[in-house]
Amino acid sequence: MNIAILGSGKGSNAEAIFAAIADGTLPATKVVALLSDVPDAGILQRGIRYGVTGTYIDAGPFRTKLDGPGEQRYLDALRAADADTIVLAGFMRIIKAGMLAAFPNRIVNIHPSLLPAFPGLNAWRQALDYGVRITGCTVHLVDAGTDTGPILDQMAVRVHDDDTAESLHARIQECEHTIYPAALQRLASGRLRLTGRRMIAVV
Ligand code: GAR
Repeated sequence: MNIAILGSGKGSNAEAIFAAIADGTLPATKVVALLSDVPDAGILQRGIRYGVTGTYIDAGPFRTKLDGPGEQRYLDALRAADADTIVLAGFMRIIKAGMLAAFPNRIVNIHPSLLPAFPGLNAWRQALDYGVRITGCTVHLVDAGTDTGPILDQMAVRVHDDDTAESLHARIQECEHTIYPAALQRLASGRLRLTGRRMIAVV
């Protein structure tokens, strides 16, 4: 699998993916591009140890979506890098029709809640404010909705009485770093079939 990792933040999930490739738990996967819409995002530095240079690409005037000329700039970079799978790792923009059409069922996202609960921004804070006792994280394919695509994997995290938004997010992130590389390995194995909304393993 030739993956392009896209992110807007510190890049801890990107780090987990690079580490899984380096230690052999995510074989046959190569990071062919590491892109960010934020010029000084930490994620841009995450490839250095692994020989991958991060690139800032201007995503254009819209704050919350990747559309228009910004989308085109990303598509050009992804094609030039020969990416076949897009891995969103904290990329804080909604993916629109042009990118979805270019990579049908090949855009993957990690979300910090047990979807379909708490889609959108700051999902861990939403969970804390709502008062749920269990939340977690979800790896899913990206479709035209917001955090609505078919689910590849999930992991549950118990909410503690003394949790702050930060402590809860930190424990969710530990789980993200486990399930994201593992879900990508399942995808890379080519033994998954989409049946309706369900990703089923084919033996
Ligand atoms: C992760 O917790 C990820 O689930 C979240 O952003 C964080 C990025 O962290 N994504 C979303 O909220 C998408 N809606 P990272 O930069 O350390 O990987």
